[in-house]
Amino acid sequence: MDKPGAVKGFKDILPADAHIWRHIESVARDVARRYNFEELRPPIAEKTEIFARGIGQATDIVEKEMYSFVDKGEEKITLRPEATAGMVRAVLEHNLAAGGRPARLFCLGPMFRYERPQKGRQRQFHQLDVEVFGDASPFVDAEVLAWLHDFLRGLGLGGLSININSLGCPKCRPAFREKLVEFFRARLEYLCPDCQRRLELNPLRIIDCKNEKCKEMVAGAPVMLESLCNECSDHFGEVKELLERLDLAYKVNPHLVRGLDYYTRTAFEVLSDDLGAQSAVAGGGRYDGLCLELGGRDIPAIGFAVGLERLALLLKDKGGVAADAPDFYLAVLSEKAAPVAFKLAKTLRGEGFSVAGDWEPGSLKSRLKRADKSGADKTIMIGDDELSSRRAVVRDMRSHEQSELDLGIYI
Ligand code: HAM
Repeated sequence: MDKPGAVKGFKDILPADAHIWRHIESVARDVARRYNFEELRPPIAEKTEIFARGIGQATDIVEKEMYSFVDKGEEKITLRPEATAGMVRAVLEHNLAAGGRPARLFCLGPMFRYERPQKGRQRQFHQLDVEVFGDASPFVDAEVLAWLHDFLRGLGLGGLSININSLGCPKCRPAFREKLVEFFRARLEYLCPDCQRRLELNPLRIIDCKNEKCKEMVAGAPVMLESLCNECSDHFGEVKELLERLDLAYKVNPHLVRGLDYYTRTAFEVLSDDLGAQSAVAGGGRYDGLCLELGGRDIPAIGFAVGLERLALLLKDKGGVAADAPDFYLAVLSEKAAPVAFKLAKTLRGEGFSVAGDWEPGSLKSRLKRADKSGADKTIMIGDDELSSRRAVVRDMRSHEQSELDLGIYI
C-alpha cells in the first residue's frame, strides 16, 4: 500500500496547532457562559430531508455539496453541512423551547460540504454555532450580534466588519421577489448561465453571484430594504438602534443575501480583509419559519455560525497563541537516574504539574536542548553525581537561576 493520505479536503489538526483550537473553543465557552447559553451536542448526521427541506432544495449546499448516503437500513442520511437544521430538529424533538422560556444554545463541531478546497475552505470544517429559539424580539438579534462581537474581540481579532441586512418575511418577500425577477428578466442576456437558471428557482441568489457582469447588474437591482413591510422595517430599525446602544459598529449592506434559504428579517455576515477569497468569518440571521417548515411548532429563532478554520488562520497570521508548555523537563543524564526521575515525575504529576522528559539517558547538552525546545519553565537534572549527593539541580529556564531538590525519597 502507498503511504496513506487523508481524504481530499479533510485535514488533520496537528499537535503544533491544537492549542490554537483549544484557545478558540475555550473563549467560545466563556462567552457562552457570560451570555447564559447552554451546550447542545447534536449528532453529526441527520436524515437527509432535514437539510433538504431546511436549507432549501435550490441552494448550492443541497444541490451539490452534501455528503449523503443510504445506510444499511435503507435510510437516507447526510453528514451535516451546517448545524442549524439539526439544532432545530433536536429542539423540536426534545421540546427544548417549551413553557415560554427561550432555548439559548450553542454547539461546536465538524461540518461537511463537498466544495473545492482552497485556503480557508475545506470539505470537513468546524463551526461554532449559536442559536436562540423562542424569542422574536429585536433585542435577541442585537444580543447574538453582541455575542459574536465579544467572541471575536475575546480572540483579539480586529479588522473585521459586521454587515447586516433585512431579508423581509413571507408577507413582504414575495412582492420583492417578483420585482427582482422582472428586473433580471429584462437583462437576462447579461447574466451568467448559473444566474439565468437561478432566475425562476432562487432569484435572490443572483444578488450574491461572483461573476463580474452579474455584479454590475446587481448594483442597479431593487433591494429588499425598500420593499420591507412595516413590521419588518420596524424590527430592522430597532435592531440597528440597539446595536448603536451597545456601540457596536456595523454596516448595512442591502445586497447581503445568504447561501441558505431559511432566513427571514435580520441577516448578517462578518468579513475579514485578511482571508483572500474566503472572506466570511461568520454568517447568520433570523429564521422564524424553519421550525414550522420542519414539522414543529411556530418558534421564532435566530443564530449564527463561525468558521473555526478561518479564525485559526487569522490567529496564526497574528502571531499565533502561546502554546501550553510543561512546568518541568526531567533531564535524565545516566541510566541509574531514570527510575529516580520516573518516580519524581509521578509525584510532580500527582501534585498537578505537567512534566516532560526522556527516559533514555543523554548528555547534559542534548537534554538541555530538548528542555529548551519543550518550553518548560524548569529543568530538573539528575545524573550519577546527583544520585550520590541525593540532590538534583533545578534550573529556571528563563532566569537560569539554579536551586537544589532533595532526591531522598525517590532513590
Ligand atoms: P454559513 O454562512 O454557510 O452559515 O457558514 C458559516 C461560516 O462557516 C462561514 O462564514 C465560514 O466561516 C464557515 N464555512 C462555511 N463553509 C466552509 C468551508 N467549506 N470551509 C471552511 N469554513 C466554512 C451557516 O452554516 C448557518 N448555519 C449559520 C446560521 C446559524 N444561521 C443561523 N444560525
